[in-house]
Amino acid sequence: MTIFTTMVTNKLNASALAVAVVVAAIAAASPDVVCAFRLSPSYSSSQRVLLPPSSPASTVGDVIRSAARDKQMRWPHGPLFSSVPERSSSSSSTVNSSPPPPPLSTLVNRVAVAGATGRTGRYVVEELLRRNVRVLAMVRDVDKANDVLDPTNEYLTIRRTDLGDRDDVISALNDDDGCDAAIWCATGFSDSPDQSWLARLTALFGFATNSKASIDAVGLPALGEGLAKRGVGGSGYGDGGGGGGGGGNASLPRVVMLSSAGVTRPDWSDEKKKALEGSAAIPIVRLNPFGILGLKKESEERLRTCGVDYCIFRPCGLNDNWSPNQRPIFSQGDVAVGRINRMDVARILVDILSTPEATGKTFEAFSIANSEGYYPPAPSLGPALARLVPDDHNAGRGLSEESVRVTYALMQQLLPGEKQDPARLAMGQTYEQLDRDERGRLGERGTEVAPIRTT
Ligand SMILES: NC(=O)c1ccc[n+]([C@@H]2O[C@H](COP(=O)([O-])OP(=O)(O)OC[C@H]3O[C@@H](n4cnc5c(N)ncnc54)[C@H](OP(=O)(O)O)[C@@H]3O)[C@@H](O)[C@H]2O)c1
Repeated sequence: MTIFTTMVTNKLNASALAVAVVVAAIAAASPDVVCAFRLSPSYSSSQRVLLPPSSPASTVGDVIRSAARDKQMRWPHGPLFSSVPERSSSSSSTVNSSPPPPPLSTLVNRVAVAGATGRTGRYVVEELLRRNVRVLAMVRDVDKANDVLDPTNEYLTIRRTDLGDRDDVISALNDDDGCDAAIWCATGFSDSPDQSWLARLTALFGFATNSKASIDAVGLPALGEGLAKRGVGGSGYGDGGGGGGGGGNASLPRVVMLSSAGVTRPDWSDEKKKALEGSAAIPIVRLNPFGILGLKKESEERLRTCGVDYCIFRPCGLNDNWSPNQRPIFSQGDVAVGRINRMDVARILVDILSTPEATGKTFEAFSIANSEGYYPPAPSLGPALARLVPDDHNAGRGLSEESVRVTYALMQQLLPGEKQDPARLAMGQTYEQLDRDERGRLGERGTEVAPIRTT
């Protein structure tokens, strides 16, 4: 088995070379292991070195020895490591060279945005308008929409819509010449126009105890139902029938759901929670206020089964202090932990509409801040999403548990901060505060009071 490790060095300095020597010595002790180093003069020696996903290990040696033992480890579509760096393997070179999709305005006539006045929703509307796409903003508060959106834009229609009423949602989709795609950015987590704490708490209890009445459970499948009956406009790019494909023959997604990383974690077995503690013990999963994650998971399932071509996008923590315009790291298995700026989330949600490789898939994402120098966002999501599996993969079970485990091992190395131990975070505490041993805004881990709104 060969392990490819990109060593980061600056002028081949002594510390980097010392690490290289240690790793090479470990490799020499294991005849099956070959290490390939790319020595780059432009990299800094203090950068994090990513090691191949393997069984949980605490040292470089553990990882390498364990990877050597695990010779059969395979990524969903092929070997995880090969004897040379995989930059030009046939499958990835094919997808990497795929042309960018046509402009979205040639693919759709009008896009409905549910939750258009939200902190993510307004960026989604802006992004669509910036691409000359007509937008139907479905809102509950028209005055707020007039404030936070640009009502003078001739491509924008603002419509008061009751997202908890199936018929109203379907009727909105058919207004004028209708919509042919939709992005769901609304949440039932703040389910009342009255934003007092008491009103929110009351609404949330209603939401949590009667999920059939929540906007996610009613409005989201209604979007799917309404759009499943309509044809896609524009050039028909990506049309080929049958959603859920992994490549260019799939249809385009008609409904894109902004969901959340972590929705499956409360339901993991105790054994899995222990093995993947860095994903299972983060504050939102540990506290899961009012069962919000289960409700989102249930809404996801309603979308999957309502007959429309869909995509479910689950970002990690939304954080507007995290730099925008970063490269997103996509993964599956619901093990990702990290942060992403809402503007990047909005761009991805809009990009998905012109990405057939997204259809029928569910995936998570965070971004690596300060990556703008050499890791800009890719011009197209297609190559990255083509590598992900559709929801009907593995008889509907998604990734195998082994693939989830190796994904976890890699994702945990991409955590923000220095301590990189999200299981120690308190709700409301940042990675930076954890690094400095400072309390978060809601107090110590284990005694914090979960807020009604976690965003
Ligand atoms: N915070 C995180 O770290 C995180 C991580 C991953 C995923 N997410 C998810 O990302 C999504 C968007 O987050 P965000 O921060 O953009 O949310 P947000 O700012 O709270 O926006 C929510 C939107 O939903 C609308 N809404 C709520 N209840 C409604 C109702 N009954 N009828 C109509 N509209 C309703 C709100 O309308 P008003 O403008 O009128 O209030 C608002 O436009 C949420 O589903 C959230 O769970 C969050």
